[in-house]
Amino acid sequence: MNTESRRGFHTDGITEEGQACLDVIFSRRSYRGKYRPDPVPREHLDAILRAGLSAPSGCNRQTVSLIAVDDPTLLARIRAVIDPPAGETAPAVICVLSRRIIAYRDRCFATQDYAAAIENMLLAITALGYRSCWYEGHITDTDRICDRIAGILDVPEGTELVCVLPVGIAEEEARLPKKKPFAERAWYNGFGGGTERSRMRVAQMLQKYHNHDSRLPYYELILEGKLTDLPVMPLPAGYRFENYRDGDREAWIRIERSAKEFSSWDEGEEAWRKYYEGHEEELKKRMFFVVNEQGQKAATATAFYDIRSADDGVNGMLHWVAVCAEEQGKGLSKPLILKALHTMKDSGYTRAVIPTQTTTWLACKVYLDLGFRPVPRNAERSRKGWELIRSLTWHPALVEFAGAEEKGPDTEGTLL
Ligand SMILES: Cc1cc2nc3c(=O)[nH]c(=O)nc-3n(C[C@H](O)[C@H](O)[C@H](O)COP(=O)(O)O)c2cc1C
Repeated sequence: MNTESRRGFHTDGITEEGQACLDVIFSRRSYRGKYRPDPVPREHLDAILRAGLSAPSGCNRQTVSLIAVDDPTLLARIRAVIDPPAGETAPAVICVLSRRIIAYRDRCFATQDYAAAIENMLLAITALGYRSCWYEGHITDTDRICDRIAGILDVPEGTELVCVLPVGIAEEEARLPKKKPFAERAWYNGFGGGTERSRMRVAQMLQKYHNHDSRLPYYELILEGKLTDLPVMPLPAGYRFENYRDGDREAWIRIERSAKEFSSWDEGEEAWRKYYEGHEEELKKRMFFVVNEQGQKAATATAFYDIRSADDGVNGMLHWVAVCAEEQGKGLSKPLILKALHTMKDSGYTRAVIPTQTTTWLACKVYLDLGFRPVPRNAERSRKGWELIRSLTWHPALVEFAGAEEKGPDTEGTLL
């Protein structure tokens, strides 16, 4: 069994040495604070350099070389070119050098080689009781601090200085970095934690399952998101869009009933009165129908706003998306939803709220795929509903609703 706490990670059956190795791995972290002035003994620097050189390299090309700097005069010259300062109080610095040697054909693994060497050294540094930080972005940026350090150290042309690692005893506590939960980044047997079977099941259901799954308990689900980066998706051949026209109320109720949004005609009429009566002129720009080759209205959606509050022109609401029963599984819903969302965006709205429910979980997957996410208050109130959607879709955006058996050993944020 694995157990994990903020102080360490333990796995059953491990040797003491193995545990010590894991302890080092889990206690390494980037340190950007002040260092004590105590020098780092040469034996320690030597051990760190050897750890770096013992790292794997692509085709064993050994593209990495290293320079440890502990001479105070040289250190001062290096510090003078690192602007803004980084690791400036460290009594030693290791400079990582890389040569872009071809491993085979046109493949060069120089970057992977030095990354492996750096991690080995960071672990050795940690094992010896020191702290460090991988400074690469800072020194290889457009101001090319790395080239100036290389100049100070007589690094020949063709060899690039790619990273510096300060080494020393930390004067302060190292900050805990925020890491994403285990279950968001690591899985068994497939991306997102879904087994092949469950992914296939979703794919099959997306193709042929009735859009309204009445076997599921009902929970109201509300998603929200920005109206940016929306893809464009044409309707399948033979279908076209039509805007609402006077007299389309009956067609709307018929489609919504067929999609099981209402159990009776009266219910449909009541919903129309509540949402749209008196707004018919607006609907001509906001309500859409998908029409089939025979001229029959097959699906509908409305780019509206929250009727409980005034239209602020910023927050749109997607209303009453429905595809009638005999037209389901034909790829109409995604183009229809996108048509409504694009219309909203083109009318100046920047965000959209999308109310839906567990019984139409396939539509919910479409919204999640488009980047919409549960509204936090609804995620709390309808947690069970969202858990259901996660278990049906294995959608990676819903990882926080994963069931206990799916979560794996660590779900609580940082490792150490
Ligand atoms: C390729 C690479 C470049 C990095 N460059 C910098 C840098 O220029 N400055 C810095 O403060 N940290 C740098 N870091 C450290 C990361 O910010 C750090 O690893 C990350 O925030 C996670 O924290 P942790 O190392 O404590 O787990 C770099 C790390 C890597 C892998």
